[in-house]
Amino acid sequence: GKGEYDHFMLKEIHEQPTALSQALEGRIDTQNGRIALADFDPGTFADIDSVQFIACGTSYHAALYGSLALKQAGVESTALLANEYSVSAPPVDDDTLVVAVTQSGETADTLNALRRAEAEGAMTVTVTNVVGSTAAREADEALFIRAGPEIGVAATKTFSSQAVMLTLLGQRIAADRHGDPPADLDTLLPELAAMPDALDDLLAETDAEAIAERYHNSRSYFFIGRGLGFPVALEGALKFKEITYEHAEGFASGELKHGPLALVTPDTPVFAIFTGQEDEKTLKNAEEAQTRGAPVVAVCPEDHRAVDVADAHLEIPETDADLAGLLANVQLQLVSYYAADLLDRPIDKPRNLAKSVTVE
Ligand code: F6R
Repeated sequence: GKGEYDHFMLKEIHEQPTALSQALEGRIDTQNGRIALADFDPGTFADIDSVQFIACGTSYHAALYGSLALKQAGVESTALLANEYSVSAPPVDDDTLVVAVTQSGETADTLNALRRAEAEGAMTVTVTNVVGSTAAREADEALFIRAGPEIGVAATKTFSSQAVMLTLLGQRIAADRHGDPPADLDTLLPELAAMPDALDDLLAETDAEAIAERYHNSRSYFFIGRGLGFPVALEGALKFKEITYEHAEGFASGELKHGPLALVTPDTPVFAIFTGQEDEKTLKNAEEAQTRGAPVVAVCPEDHRAVDVADAHLEIPETDADLAGLLANVQLQLVSYYAADLLDRPIDKPRNLAKSVTVE
């Protein structure tokens, strides 16, 4: 049941520290500076030339996150919408790894793309929550995110667990590919291990309800981020539209001035996500919106320069740039939740949506 919570969504948001502990259990070895994925012998990915991530919806945003992180670790990779894969897949051969990211393991679009990749000879892995799902049975290997059942139609904890799992997998691929662990793995591992505690702190101190109160009667909601903040901006907007039924859009920060700025007014709050990757540019982009009257909500650590500039602040604990976006995402989940609650929406079962989409 929902226990002390009014909705499954809020319960599942609060389950994220536990979900991440479960995802990480036995998989990181901070002592020896290694990632331990039991299913993959050392060198499994040594010959992989490129990685294609395929997924839909929220899982696509996790896939984009994983793909960008892998690119930053020096491995060629792309994230592709599974429903576009049949018309736009880059070439695949037996040195291509295709990673199907799917919470349910039953999404028709993702299964179709997975089957196509397999038919063309790619090595395949699925990152999924459901043991025994079709994706888990059909992919060469399955990595389980261990998030526990998710009842809310809007995915929350499974996004965080997928992104963490893809970060682990990406670091393993990069280590195999380069023959050495990525240089910054030593700093990343302790921060990964500290994610459950960081989330506990965030959940205990969040101002998301007050931010939702202040802005929930706006005309449109914009989310901007750069680098690993970009998939978080997309996910922030998707969550917001799914459960509030209000118009929301996510943009790469630098794209705001290439069109969307025409929509910006005092009635369009802009949530700016700062991950430590070229933050000064994102701040400048946010200020361009602020100059047109838009209130800016900075999602960043307490002592960040953006706090002085912004109209409001959602705090995230200090962490590695590879992980900050995941903390920001949880603040945005909470804003969507409280805004939807104020608007009296049926949060756990939004109209027209299903938890698992088994048709093309
Ligand atoms: C959004 C949401 C959907 C799913 C998408 C893929 O909150 O839940 O966008 O992420 O339908 O589902 P899975 O991950 O089961 O393949």
